[in-house]
Amino acid sequence: MRGRPPIPPPSHMDCPVPIMRRAILSAFIVGAWLLAGCEAGERAGISAPRSPVGPVPPEPQRPGDPERGYRALVTESYVSCGIPYAAYRESADPPPPSHRLPGREGRNAELPYNFTAHTTKDGVELVVSNCLTCHAGFFDGRLIVGLGNEALDFTEDRVPYIEGLGAYVQDEKAAREWRKWADRLEAIGPYSTTDTVGSNPAISITWALFAHRDPKTLAWSPTALIAPPPTHPLPATVPPWWRMKKKHAMFHTAVGRGDHARLMILASTLCTDSVEEARAIDAYAPDIRAFIETLQPPAYPFATDEAFAASGQLLFEANCTQCHGTYGENWTYPNLVIDLARIGTDPAVALAGTGGSEDRFLRWLGESFYGESARLAPARGYIAPPLDGVWATAPYLHNGSVPTIDALLNSGKRPRYWRRSFDSKDYDQETLGWRYTELAEGKKGTDSNARKWVYDTTLPGAANSGHTFGDHLKEGERRAVLEYLKTL
Ligand code: HEC
Ligand code: HEC
Repeated sequence: MRGRPPIPPPSHMDCPVPIMRRAILSAFIVGAWLLAGCEAGERAGISAPRSPVGPVPPEPQRPGDPERGYRALVTESYVSCGIPYAAYRESADPPPPSHRLPGREGRNAELPYNFTAHTTKDGVELVVSNCLTCHAGFFDGRLIVGLGNEALDFTEDRVPYIEGLGAYVQDEKAAREWRKWADRLEAIGPYSTTDTVGSNPAISITWALFAHRDPKTLAWSPTALIAPPPTHPLPATVPPWWRMKKKHAMFHTAVGRGDHARLMILASTLCTDSVEEARAIDAYAPDIRAFIETLQPPAYPFATDEAFAASGQLLFEANCTQCHGTYGENWTYPNLVIDLARIGTDPAVALAGTGGSEDRFLRWLGESFYGESARLAPARGYIAPPLDGVWATAPYLHNGSVPTIDALLNSGKRPRYWRRSFDSKDYDQETLGWRYTELAEGKKGTDSNARKWVYDTTLPGAANSGHTFGDHLKEGERRAVLEYLKTL
């Protein structure tokens, strides 16, 4: 491999992240000390970018055509490796009508929303995944493009399934394509396996893909070129796309700066092996961004009480607007990153970004094609998101640790251990979230078969603390704010 020795796993070099994370939880000072030592070691190279907390300034975005963007989103193969069609057919039933997308033709019309047909230069027909795997979800039985999918199960070891598909691959050319896809997924496997259904490993997957690519050429390396991220990704949710028309930065920590379109196509780093290929995808990325910016949140599908919502609006404007903005035709949105000390929600994701342990990935981006126009510059806090359609996006906070908005606005009500329903018709209109059961025990006290369904807020990155800004409201006032949130 280009004469470079294979890099040992992270525990032998670089930042001892898993140890560090535990240290942060048990003894913050020890954690801070490890972080400091780690950062000093990494400072040898170019320093990694950082952003201050507070307002995020706007940056110019490339214009695009939303209609072409939708077409690109659901027909282009920005993820260019996948399952040979014959093997796909053997392994999957045709999708029900509710899983099909409007406006797709040919092979795409028969595929579910989260897959796209692609024919390689060698003429091999593939079925590849698309952005909607994570960025489309169901509410009340209806597929909503742009709603984060909080029901994905990344807890299982996928290798047996991936290898099993090989049995259906028919010829040599198809076998080569299947092997490429299988090798990529297997390389990122340890970094894409979460502990809880609904937790999304996209951040960790992105770091793992960076670790396997030369930033200059984007060539793939079967062995990691820099230390990969720790295994067991921290829990994270998928924000709804319709927020992006207001946001000046991407992601929970507002780490995504500069040219948003270029950052949006990082999902293609699974299979894109050259700058030339990346550039071709980047050519239509502004169209996808433009489409995303036209998305409106769905309308609340149940009854609302207008007068009660109006009284909630006044309370909202007195208690929440300073961070979350105002709504309606002349909306305002302050684009604020709130410091960890003020927000008090689980700090692990923001500390991982700013503590030095992810600097090698931030630098990788800076040196790559993606860094020509975009930056990953984390801030030590979380952005207060726009709350449009927020009633549809349970569970809440960046880590999905709070099952309902009612509990988010009343911290004493937040369950320590809980298990939610994954039936999209099981919505609780009183509390604004999926119905859930509070449990007496966390993952440790739970049978191994059921463990993955348990959200355990005592685990690293999963705390349900902070955001106590609704605690002082009287019960009736809180109900009024919830009523108002239904109208956004
Ligand atoms: C494996 C799941 C996954 C796939 C596939 C994926 N994303 Fe994401 N996406 C996420 C997660 C998780 C986040 C939030 C990460 C964070 O905030 O740190 C996110 C964040 C975003 C955001 C920022 C939203 C916000 O409010 O800050 C945009 C825009 C976005 N993705 C676009 C895309 C596009 C376009 C594609 C396809 C080219 C794509 N994503 C593919 C999981 C995914
Ligand atoms: C000081 C700023 C601040 C104030 C005041 C504030 N919030 Fe927040 N809010 C935040 C931040 C920051 C987050 C994201 C925290 C995280 O994900 O860890 C958030 C998250 C939320 C979320 C969850 C969004 C999601 O998709 O997970 C809701 C709902 C919310 N706030 C509602 C409210 C309401 C209602 C009020 C007023 C009673 C309020 N907030 C007051 C800063 C604030």
